[in-house]
Parts: sequence; structure tokens; C-alpha cells
Amino acid sequence: MRVLATDLKRRLQAARVLVVGDAMLDRYLFGDVERISPEAPVPVVRVRREEERLGGAANVALNVKALGPAVTLITAVGNDEPARRLESLLQACAVESLLGRDPKLYTCVKLRVIGRSQQLVRVDFENQPDHEVLSGLLSDFIRIVPRCDAVLFSDYGKGGLTHIPKMIEIARGAGKPVLVDPKGGDYGRYAGATVITPNRSELAQVIGAWQSEEQLLERVQRLRREQRLAALLLTRSEEGMSLFDDEGHVRIDAQAREVFDVTGAGDTVIGTLAALLAAGLTLREAMPIANRAGGIVVGKFGTATVSYEELFA
Ligand SMILES: Nc1ncnc2c1ncn2[C@@H]1O[C@H](COP(=O)(O)OP(=O)(O)OP(=O)(O)O)[C@@H](O)[C@H]1O
Ligand SMILES: [Mg+2]
Repeated sequence: MRVLATDLKRRLQAARVLVVGDAMLDRYLFGDVERISPEAPVPVVRVRREEERLGGAANVALNVKALGPAVTLITAVGNDEPARRLESLLQACAVESLLGRDPKLYTCVKLRVIGRSQQLVRVDFENQPDHEVLSGLLSDFIRIVPRCDAVLFSDYGKGGLTHIPKMIEIARGAGKPVLVDPKGGDYGRYAGATVITPNRSELAQVIGAWQSEEQLLERVQRLRREQRLAALLLTRSEEGMSLFDDEGHVRIDAQAREVFDVTGAGDTVIGTLAALLAAGLTLREAMPIANRAGGIVVGKFGTATVSYEELFA
């Protein structure tokens, strides 16, 4: 490693990462079901407990922060109560936030109602953010990029990354590594990025289902050339991950000891990668560490983070 392990902690703490994307608030209502509603044939849940967690790009920001770097999150929100909760939760974790407030936008909330330990319904609040608000965030982005060591885009397909081609161009022009967690079928949006980190189904949506490792390699390398991507990291759940770059490809096995909850593993992987690139590691150096972080986080319940101490224990 070019960066000595003893040095790494200090370098992580000195680094700054900019996270841009679709932030969410995950809400859980836990209660008892004692009767059926007289209004419709549905259970009535009497709420006993509420829980809230940062989700989407906000969870990614939290994962970066857990390893030491300073983090700024740029995201569009509504002018509503969930936006204020998001802001105070971010503040409590010392993540700096630049929130573009769009009065016509619902802050993205995923509300789960759980009765008798069973999820009964999930209620989603979301709509497309306004163009003017997004243009304002682009100006914030341009102002902040020079102070950052890495830029991470967390795309959950909610419309907050309309300006991503321009943002990637600016960040690359400033010499910053750019990491993207992609969504959807058009990777032209991510052209010029340093690394994109699709999971298996996300990648299959773009290059088609592959029949062999040779076919996967050939199609990924073509995609990289077409979109000028320095690298592509395929996260393969229980099969670990594969990194494709100009030197070829490397594959490593998953490292989980116990698997309780796989949600959010992708957020932890890209957050860890961004922190390590910001601290000066290469992608090939960072990859096995990010894989270890993914293996640790699937052993925890709910979307969760991995600290520097856990990662290097
Ligand atoms: N079942 C599993 N067993 C072992 N390791 C796992 C498992 N699931 C995930 N991981 C680890 O986490 C990494 C990322 O997981 P995955 O490919 O499922 O990402 P993802 O689908 O983007 O996750 P999400 O979108 O839920 O955050 C894997 O590369 C691996 O290191
Ligand atoms: Mg993912």
C-alpha cells in the first residue's frame, strides 16, 4: 500500500467527501393489531413505537462519515416536517447538509407500518424536484467541489441528479475522483466517472444478462470504453465483487461471517470506497477494504455503518 496503515486513519480524518443525490428518510411504525377496521377490511394498528433512519444518499453520507472524513451532502428536499427531521438527523451525525428546498416537493419518505412483527404496508412519499431548485444545487456544487477530495453520486432514480453529466464534468475537470452508484438503463449520464458501482441486476439491465464470466468481461470493458469510465465495480452480493479497469479485472469473494440484513450493503461499499479514495488510496487498494465493510454491514440489522475501528480490527 502506498499509504501506510498508521497513516491511513489520519488521512481519512483529514479528507473531505462531497455526496450528491437522492436522500430519504426511512420511517418505521411498530404496533399491535387488535381489530379490523370498521371502515374497510384492513387491520387497525395501534402504534407503540416509532423509528427513523437516514436513507438513500443520506445513509451513504453517514457511511462515509463513520470512517472519519468530513462530509457535505447536497440534496433536494421539500419544505416539510420530514425535511426538518432529515436536517436534524444529519446535524446530529455531523454531516454538513446543503438542502435545496422545493415547496412543491415531498421530501422522500418510506414509511413502513409493522404490526405483530409483520410489515403490513409501505407508504412512499416522492415526486420530481423542480428545475430551479436543482439549478441552485448545481451552483452549490460548483462552489464546494474545489474543497473536496472525492465526489460521490448516489442515484436512487428520484430525479435529484438531473445535472449529473455537468457535475461529473466539473469534478473531473477539477481532478477529483468521481464515484457513482447508478440506477436505470442509461449509463450515458455517468460518462467520464472514475468508477460506477452497479449490483448484478442493475448491470444486467444495461448490458443484458451474461452467460459466462468471459461474456461479462467483454461487455463491461466495452461499456467502460463507450462511457469513458476508468473503472466499474460490480457488487455481487454473496458472490463478493469484481473490479474492471484498464489493467483487466480482479474478483474477490464475499467476506461476511453472518448475514442478517443485506439492505444498505451497497451504500456501505460505495461510501467506504469514496472515503479511501479521498484519503489517497487507489481503487485496487480500496476494493478489498470496501468488500470487508460490506461483509461487516450485512451482519447488522437495518441500514447501518461500519467504523474505522471495526474495519481495521
Ligand atoms: N449475502 C451476502 N453475503 C456476503 N456478503 C454480502 C452479501 N450481500 C452483500 N454482501 C457484501 O456487500 C456488497 C454489496 O452488496 P450488493 O451487491 O447486494 O449491493 P446492493 O444490491 O447495491 O445493496 P443495496 O442496494 O441493498 O444497498 C457485496 O459486494 C458483498 O461484499
Ligand atoms: Mg445498491
